[in-house]
Amino acid sequence: MEIRYVRESRTYKTSRIFPTDVNNHNTLFGGKLMSYIDDIASISASKHCRQSIVTASTDSVDFLLPIRPTDSVCLESFVTWTGKSSMEVFVKVITEDLKSGKRDIAATSFLTFVALDENRKPVIVPQVIPETQEEIMLHESAKQRAEMRKFRREGSKEFSDHLQMKFPWE
Ligand SMILES: CC(C)(COP(=O)(O)OP(=O)(O)OC[C@H]1O[C@@H](n2cnc3c(N)ncnc32)[C@H](O)[C@@H]1OP(=O)(O)O)[C@@H](O)C(=O)NCCC(=O)NCCS
Repeated sequence: MEIRYVRESRTYKTSRIFPTDVNNHNTLFGGKLMSYIDDIASISASKHCRQSIVTASTDSVDFLLPIRPTDSVCLESFVTWTGKSSMEVFVKVITEDLKSGKRDIAATSFLTFVALDENRKPVIVPQVIPETQEEIMLHESAKQRAEMRKFRREGSKEFSDHLQMKFPWE
C-alpha cells in the first residue's frame, strides 16, 4: 500500500480583504471564504493522491470570528485521514491583524474528496501518515467523523426521495 505523509499535502494561501470581498457588515463574505476553503482543500487532496478528485462533502464551516478588512486571512489545509478512495481534508483559517500582528483562528472546516479514475469511478488513494501532535490528534478523531458522514449521507439520500422537483407552475 502506497503511503504519503500529511506534510506532503500541506498547502497555504494568504490574502488581503478587498472592498469587493465584504458583506454589509464590512467583514469577509462567508461565501467568499467557503470558496477559498474548497479551493485550497482540493489542492491538498490532489497533492495527496495525484489523481482527478471531486468534493464529496463539506461537513461544516464554523465561522468563529469575523474577518475585517484590516486583517490578512491565511488558510492552511492538509489531508488528515484516508479511506479507500476518500480523503478527509482539514482547513484552518487564521486571521492576522496587520497593525498589531495579533493572530486568531477565525474558522475551521472538514471536507471529503474522492479520487476518480478516467471512467469517473472511485480509485484507491495512498494511506496518510500523521507525524506532528496536531496531525495525530486529527487523524485519530477522523474515523468517528467518517462514520457520522456515512450516517448523514444515508439520511440525505433517503430525504431526497421525498423532495419534489416540479416547477411551481406545473
Ligand atoms: C462523490 C462520488 C464520486 C461518490 O461516488 P459513488 O459512486 O457514490 O461512490 P461510493 O459510494 O463507492 O463512495 C466512494 C467513496 O466516497 C465516499 N463518499 C461518497 N459520498 C460521500 C459524502 N457525501 N461524504 C463523504 N464521503 C463520501 C464513500 O464513503 C467512499 O469512501 P471510501 O472509498 O474511502 O470507502 C459521487 O457521489 C459524485 O460524483 N458526487 C458529485 C461530486 C461533485 O460533483 N462534486 C462537486 C460539487 S459541485
